Amino acid sequence: MAHQMAVVLDFGGQYNQLIARRVRECGVYCEVKPFSTPLEELKKMNPIGFIFTGGPNSVYLETSPHVDPEIFQLGVPVLGICYGCQLMAHTLGGKVTAAQEDSAREYGKTETFYDTQCPLFKGLPSQGVSWMSHGDYMEKVPDGFELVARSGACPNVAIADVKRGFYGVQYHPEVNHTENGVQMIRNFLFEVCGAKGDWTMGDYKNTAIAAVREKVGNGRVLLALSGGVDSSVCAALLAEAVGGQLTCVFVDHGLMRKNEGDEVQAAFQNWAMNFIRVDAEERFLKKLAGVTEPERKRKIIGEEFIRVFEEEAKKIGAVDFLAQGTIYPDVIESGAGDAAVIKSHHNVGGLPDYVDFKEIIEPLRLLFKDEVRQLGRELGLPEYLVSRQPFPGPGLAIRVIGDLTKEKLDTLRDADAIYREEIDKAGLAGDISQYFAVLTNTRSVGVMGDGRTYDYTLALRAVTTSDFMTADWARIPYEVLDRVSGRIVNEVVGVNRVCYDVTSKPPATIEWE
Ligand code: XMP
Repeated sequence: MAHQMAVVLDFGGQYNQLIARRVRECGVYCEVKPFSTPLEELKKMNPIGFIFTGGPNSVYLETSPHVDPEIFQLGVPVLGICYGCQLMAHTLGGKVTAAQEDSAREYGKTETFYDTQCPLFKGLPSQGVSWMSHGDYMEKVPDGFELVARSGACPNVAIADVKRGFYGVQYHPEVNHTENGVQMIRNFLFEVCGAKGDWTMGDYKNTAIAAVREKVGNGRVLLALSGGVDSSVCAALLAEAVGGQLTCVFVDHGLMRKNEGDEVQAAFQNWAMNFIRVDAEERFLKKLAGVTEPERKRKIIGEEFIRVFEEEAKKIGAVDFLAQGTIYPDVIESGAGDAAVIKSHHNVGGLPDYVDFKEIIEPLRLLFKDEVRQLGRELGLPEYLVSRQPFPGPGLAIRVIGDLTKEKLDTLRDADAIYREEIDKAGLAGDISQYFAVLTNTRSVGVMGDGRTYDYTLALRAVTTSDFMTADWARIPYEVLDRVSGRIVNEVVGVNRVCYDVTSKPPATIEWE
């Protein structure tokens, strides 16, 4: 069945896939295309609407990305976001300049006033916070456009030409910080583009399975299975697509949480697929000995993973494809396209230059975490696997700050197990997106019984987030923190102090390394 489709035209901003994901959330199929895609190709896609993304450039510079002005003659509605808005204004005869005064540049949360007569804001409150990030300013809006939103510093925060279906916003409706942002995107799709909402995760599943089958043919696939949500969903998808051609390799690198290796094995060994557990603790710890720099740790672990897989693949013989449960935030934070490198997630930026497989398959590469969970449910995975909190590929290596030893890892494992047990007991697990302990590299003086101690400081981290791109620290009740702290300093040898991390992302990240 053919679906309606919206096209996101990518001008190099940080949030481009997030826009796509918001569109999918509204039940509309969506593809992201580079801004340079020829108009003929875009026409063939027969989109119900275009969304132009933000980007780091200034539209008035000749070297900046532009569109074929013909795109505005197709009779297809356009929503321009930030750079996309300025580009539309610039192309249609308006004037965009660098904001002269600091007051006209806007970054961060901004109180904004909307004209609720405008279809984009239909049914929404007339005032709310929007997330701005622009240094340029629309000095003159093009003919036919009216101003439909303003802020304290800026009279033209949003523009609309209702007749032609052209809308532009200077802020980012796709991020959580913009109140009612998703509803604005929904309004654009349903009120302006005539969307029917005819696309579901079930469709995504079928499309993804068909794509894997076509690519793999009769070949054999090796999947890196960690037991986390992403690789488990990937395993289920591949099992449904290519069944017996799939072998799942679980590398126990000795950096798992307490008892986790055995749990993963128990969960997967009876599935209708080939399952192999490789015990590689010694090998990984040897490679990591003395390494303190987080990015080095990631690269070493990423490389060692691949080497182990290659060896297993050789044992199996004739394996053409390596599959990975890479998801979109891994890709973007490792520096996809023009976006800056934040951390090299081991399964993307950590890959060695040479990988001995014909191809890598990453069927979840464009999905966000909660979409992956939804897909997992669609595939019939048990809820305990689907709703598991994420665990990073490099495991506890990036939660023991600095130099790694087996003793430190064991200390962290014990403390982390207590923390998780108490969160579970308090019934908080469902409310917190991710929670874990971190063994800091700091030791401090304490007193126990009548004696002085000089032991490690342990940090507790807990965050709430829907997409893991931004996150807030979780407000865990003091009584629960008190119980956790009390148990850890009493039961775990080598820890005499416990801190709670009260930093959001940004400016911190979720993990400490
Ligand atoms: P950060 O620390 O970047 O984490 O805010 C965002 C999410 O990604 C997880 N994470 C990783 N996952 N390999 C992974 O597979 C990695 O190297 C890695 N680093 C962070 C982190 O646990 C959180 O869920």
